[in-house]
Order: sequence, then C-alpha cells, then structure tokens
Amino acid sequence: MSYSYQINSFEQYKEVYERSIQQPQNFWADIASNFQWRRKWDKVLDWNFEDYKVEWFKGAKLNITENCIDRHLEKLGNKPAIIWEPNNPDEHHRVLTYNDLYNKVTQFTNVLKNNGVKKGDCVCLYMGMIPELAIAVLACARIGAIHSVIFGGFSAKSIADRLQDANARFIITCDGAFRGGKDIPLKSLIDDALESCDFIERVIVCTRTRTPISMIKGRDVWWEDEIKKVETLAMAPAPAEEMDAEDPLFILYTSGSTGKPKGVVHTCAGYMVYTNYSFVNVFNYKLGDIYFCTADIGWITGHSYIVYGPLSAGATTMMFEGIPTFPDAGRFWDIVDKHRVNILYTAPTAIRSLMSYGDEPLKGKDLSTLKVLGSVGEPINEEAWHWYDEKIGKGKCPIVDTWWQTENGGILISNLAGITPSKPGWATLPLPGVQPCLMDEQGKEIEGAGTGNLCMKFPWPSIIRTTFGDHERCKKTYFSTYPNHYFSGDGAMRDENGNYKITGRVDDVLNVSGHRIGTAEVENAINLHAGVVESAVVGYPHEIKGQGIYAFVIYNGTHNADDEDLIRRDITATVTRIIGPISKPDKIQFVKGLPKTRSGKIMRRILRKIAENETENLGDTSSLLDAGVVDEIKKGKL
Ligand code: WT7
Repeated sequence: MSYSYQINSFEQYKEVYERSIQQPQNFWADIASNFQWRRKWDKVLDWNFEDYKVEWFKGAKLNITENCIDRHLEKLGNKPAIIWEPNNPDEHHRVLTYNDLYNKVTQFTNVLKNNGVKKGDCVCLYMGMIPELAIAVLACARIGAIHSVIFGGFSAKSIADRLQDANARFIITCDGAFRGGKDIPLKSLIDDALESCDFIERVIVCTRTRTPISMIKGRDVWWEDEIKKVETLAMAPAPAEEMDAEDPLFILYTSGSTGKPKGVVHTCAGYMVYTNYSFVNVFNYKLGDIYFCTADIGWITGHSYIVYGPLSAGATTMMFEGIPTFPDAGRFWDIVDKHRVNILYTAPTAIRSLMSYGDEPLKGKDLSTLKVLGSVGEPINEEAWHWYDEKIGKGKCPIVDTWWQTENGGILISNLAGITPSKPGWATLPLPGVQPCLMDEQGKEIEGAGTGNLCMKFPWPSIIRTTFGDHERCKKTYFSTYPNHYFSGDGAMRDENGNYKITGRVDDVLNVSGHRIGTAEVENAINLHAGVVESAVVGYPHEIKGQGIYAFVIYNGTHNADDEDLIRRDITATVTRIIGPISKPDKIQFVKGLPKTRSGKIMRRILRKIAENETENLGDTSSLLDAGVVDEIKKGKL
C-alpha cells in the first residue's frame, strides 16, 4: 500500500515541486489534511526571515502521538511498530506492535503525570538505544512536556550545561547502556552532572545493565516501580494533551562555530508534517516494509527518522542498541538478514568502516530483501557509494543521499528512491517545498551551475523555530549572513540540471564520523588543561571518520614536559571530561606559536592547509605577524 501523497515518477516530482513553489500554502495544506487534528489551522503559514519568526498551521490543535500511535490502532494495531535488536546478538530481540506501543506510552505518560510532569516542562532523556527511550520520548510528547535527548557520548559537564540551559526539571535515564564491548555508566554520569544541578526534581531510572548505581532518596525512582504504581492504581490509558501547532515539541543541542551548543527548538505540527512527508517520499516507504535507520535517537536523525517520521506513517521502524562492529563487522548484515530489512539508512562513516573489513563479513548473509539504501550526515565519497551500491545493494537498490541538518528537522535535499535519478556523491534535488539557492561571498545569488554557500529562500514546515532561551542567537546564526535567507553553513555545487553536491562546512564546524563538533568548543576544553597556553583546532581528511580533529597546542607546563605522549593523554582526558569522548583530538601537535595576523587573529586557513598536508600551497601569508612560526609548525607536522 502506498500513501496518497507519495510521488511515483520523476515527471510527477517535477509537477509537485512546481506547485509547491507556486502555491506553498495550498500545497502544505493538502499534505497536512492527511493527519489527525483536534482543530484545523486558521492559516497555513506566517513567516518573516528578517526579524525571524515562522509559524506553520497557525491555530491548529493536535497531539503528535495521536498521529504516531492512536490513529493507526484500528488498522495496524497488531503490526510491528518497533523492532528492537539488542547489542548482544544472543539476547532476544523485542517486537512492539502499535497496540503494545499504545499501552506502554499511555502507561508511561501516567508515570510522568504521577511524578509531577506537566505540559511545558522540560524532561531530559539520557538513555541507551532501548525501546523505553522511544516510549519515554513519546510519553513526553503525549503529555506536552518538551523532551531534550542527550546522546550517551557526552560528559557529565556537557549534560549539566544542557540541563541548565533547558531549565530541565526531570531526567529519565538508565542504570547503564550496552554499546559493543562497553557498558556506559549512564546513571553515574547523571549523578556527576547533578552535583551542579540541584533544580532537578526527579530522576527516573530504567533498568538495563543492572550495574550498581546510587539511588538518592526523594530524587531517584525506578522506572519499573513507577510502572507498578500506575498498574496498582489501575489508571486508564493516559489521553493525549491538546497542543498548539507551534508549541515546542523538543529541544536538541547542536554545536556551532562559536560558543556553547545551542538548543534547537522544533514545534509540533510543522515537524510532524515534514518528517512524515519526507520519510514516505525519500525512502519510497510502502506499508509493511521493514525500515532500519542505524542512527542513535540522541541525534536528529533518530528523532525524525527512527521515531516521528516512521511512526506517524504507520511504519515498522527498527532500533539497534549496538554498534556496526560488534561482535564483528558483519553485524548490520546479520540484522538485515534476520529481520528481512527492506530499507537501510546509515552514515558514510559506518560504510567506510565496514568497507575496510573486506568481503568476509558479508559471506552467507542474505541481503536480498533490501530495496532502498540511504546515506546521511556527511558527504559520501564515490568509493564508499559504489561499495554500498554493489556489495550491499547488489546494484539493484537506489541509494538516497540525504542532506539536512538538526536545524532543518527533516531531509531537504535528496533523490527520491527509485523516483528521481541518483548521482554518486550528489544529494541531487530539493524536496517539494524546499527552495535552495547558492550565494557568493558578496551576498549575491548565483544563477545556473556554480559553487557557493547553501541557503534557503523560503521556510519549510520543520525549520528551526528558535534557539532555546536566546532568539537573538538564532537570528544571528542563521538569518544574518544573507539577509532574508536561511544560511546552512555548508558549501555546495550545483550542476546545470539543478542537482546539488554538498562540499562541507564553510565555518569552523567539523564533521567527525557524522558528529557535528565546534572547533571553538574543543579549543576551550583543551585550554582548560593546566599546562596549555593556547590552542587551535582544525579538521583534516580522515579515511574512516571523514574528518579528524587536529589540535595545535602551545604548552608551557613543567610537569612531564619532556614526555609529549603523557601530556597528549592528559589533554585528551581533559577534553573527554569537559565535552565527552566524541570530541577527542586525533592528533595533537605541540607548537611554539600559532600563525596570527597583526591584529592577533589565528589564521586557521593556514593551519587547515598544514593539517591537510597542503604545505606547498598556503595561499596569501602576507598578513602574518611572524612567518617563522609557520615553518616551525610545518616541520613538526604529525
Ligand atoms: C551537517 C549537519 C541531519 C543529518 C545528521 C547530521 C552535514 C548532513 C549530509 C549529506 C553532505 C551532509 C552537513 C550539515 N551533512 N548530511 N548527505 N551530504 N553533508 O546533522 O549534526 O545537524 O549536521 O552534516 O555539513 O551541515 P547535524
């Protein structure tokens, strides 16, 4: 079965796209009419990119969980909503039908209510990839609480910063998480974070690893005990709270080129409509297909394309607790084989990593159920694209290269599987309703084929609404570089047919294994090390991760000063403590000075060239204060 708004041919795409641009309000009103509303909108769109404000489906009332769960029960109640595959393949997998999901979500919504959670409260989720995470996310949405999921790879300090910024009052976590051969002590990290966050009223702890943890009286409760309470009280399934279209649904933190991570805010209606529409069309999802997105719910990909997009479409979505290489590099292929997966959505870094193990892990794995492959998070190099196409898709599965960002809520540029043409390394065409453009450094729009900075001229329903608690920052970051445009921070190329190829960030943001990392944040962490005077962080090409983190550090500490490796380890430990293991530098080079302009600005362009091994071609160095510094750095290159 397909969806009435599913695009079925390239011709139709062109027609639909044209209409979406000519009559955006009618176009999105038609799409939105496929959802369940408590009250329909008064106006489809109000927008202003100058003094940034965007409202979609103004005046409408809804609850996203009624669209993700309740409305499917009649026809799909006994169909699998979530299939969960554990970290350890010897443990049994779990299947939650839509009926099960309804029961669990409405039950946990009662738990939240009993614990004092109300509409508008912020609930922070710090959990591994277990079904209870999806259940908790949906229970928050059902009650109208704003969820803020924090990825398990962040430190206690990063958690505390986010809790403070979001004014969180509640936390849902697990004792620990299994990831590959490791147990991540989630609750212990939360305890550390809470030493500086006494405003947290309640921590609900779900059992997973059963590692010993502290449970503080009056603050910490067990998920399982709380469930028993609502069972004893024989509470009826919790009804969904009526939400305004523009009420916040969630906050998700992401790094930028300056300052602390910002809380990207998405709202109920537009986000629902766009994630559903893009999910159904990009993957060409047909009811009954088994869909497997390998992302973590701690990132936007998991929010939009494990939870909300698929569930609002009545799809079967997989959740995988582990990592691609545990217990061996054949794990993804085992999962595809075992669960008869039809659609696989993963990241280039995973593809490159698995590619490096050769064909052995693929032997004996039946991948014949696959119909569609997807890629997300970073540019996919042609070698990885062809390997994915030939070895995994056996030459018969379209690959969708999906470009988008946390701030976008959903996929903006991508081919539609089997419908619009693919081009290796190219994200290709905008989705209906999406109006990209390329700008030059002078702020002029580039016409026809060319290269420039990727912007959007018109809002789509799941565009960022604000950065939590700081609307000025939102305006400045996204809407000030090019007046009246949303600026993505990415550079892109466009061919004569209007296809886009994303070339990467044009700001000081790195993309390491598909994770977004701000260089300024890493520098600030390194600079906290007692012996460090100053540092500069840039990216360099990394075969598996896409980009690696290269740190140039001026060190004048005396302790262990003659043992560089020991200092490197201490600096790495410092970064892990401050931000988390995902931001660890891959290379640390000790230098006497950093290349600076006469006004004292670090010339990162030069450091980038050195880190990329392009030392012959440093460009204009005439504004350098001291050219000798560069020679010294070149000599010490790692
Ligand atoms: C940045 C956004 C939302 C996806 C997960 C990452 C890069 C994302 C692609 C792609 C080339 C891509 C961009 C973007 N990126 N997808 N298909 N091709 N680059 O979300 O953490 O918000 O990062 O990821 O540089 O700006 P994110």
